[in-house]
Amino acid sequence: MRAVFLGAPGAGKGTQAKMLADRGESLHISSGDMLREHRNRGTALGERAQGFMDQGQLVPDELIIAMILERIGQPDAGDAWILDGFPRTLPQAQALDQSLPADASAASVGLTHVAYFEVPQEILVRRLTGRRNCAQCGAIWHVEFKPTKQDGVCDACGGELTQRADDREDVVVQRLEAYRSQTEPLLDYYRSRGLLIDVNADQAPEAVFGELTNKLGRPVS
Ligand code: AP5
Repeated sequence: MRAVFLGAPGAGKGTQAKMLADRGESLHISSGDMLREHRNRGTALGERAQGFMDQGQLVPDELIIAMILERIGQPDAGDAWILDGFPRTLPQAQALDQSLPADASAASVGLTHVAYFEVPQEILVRRLTGRRNCAQCGAIWHVEFKPTKQDGVCDACGGELTQRADDREDVVVQRLEAYRSQTEPLLDYYRSRGLLIDVNADQAPEAVFGELTNKLGRPVS
């Protein structure tokens, strides 16, 4: 499986990609997580990306494209990965296409699936402003929709929960606008090529996962 997960900020791409990757069949590659890791390590890429991320804008294509293509080229990615948060612009989608072998005799030929997680706009803001992430294991929680047993403590590993800086409401509005203007056009790009799978992401996470895995041809056993 060489899949792309598309959807607005807060649609649940990361939640679903983690659930799928936990089955051990594919690697979850999140462009946002990679950028935050660069930022935490203080790399040049992290420093360049920070201003854009803090304002809810997309990081320039050339930085993101190089980072992701390098990642999917590493041996552990092999031929089974889920891209969460990439591509987000037409140039990114084209660069990804060009990087995948087009020769039918090659082991991997292009993308296999593009899943689109659809959620009404009014739900997205609530999901984002209530999200909490474990600083230790990266698990995703929500104060209302997926609360931990103890406030501020991860159920999975006991780590401390934090709130992403770009989950403040004013930044969320900017992120949703960037999605509408720059990422939404990719739906037509992939739909016209017969790759798009529509997933109703406005239901409980387990129900979303059931629909997703059925449509990917990998049902929950
Ligand atoms: P990134 O980290 O990719 O953020 P995003 O796309 O805005 O997506 P999110 O992580 O916010 O949402 P999600 O869909 O993964 O939702 P989640 O599962 O967490 O990007 C951050 C920034 O990095 C960008 O703004 C940009 O600056 C930069 N960047 C990254 N990639 C880039 C690229 N390719 N090009 C340029 N710049 C790039 O769920 C959200 C919450 O809802 C959680 O609390 C969860 O528990 C809850 N939830 C999930 N599913 C459900 C459900 N079914 N029901 C109820 N609650 C749910």
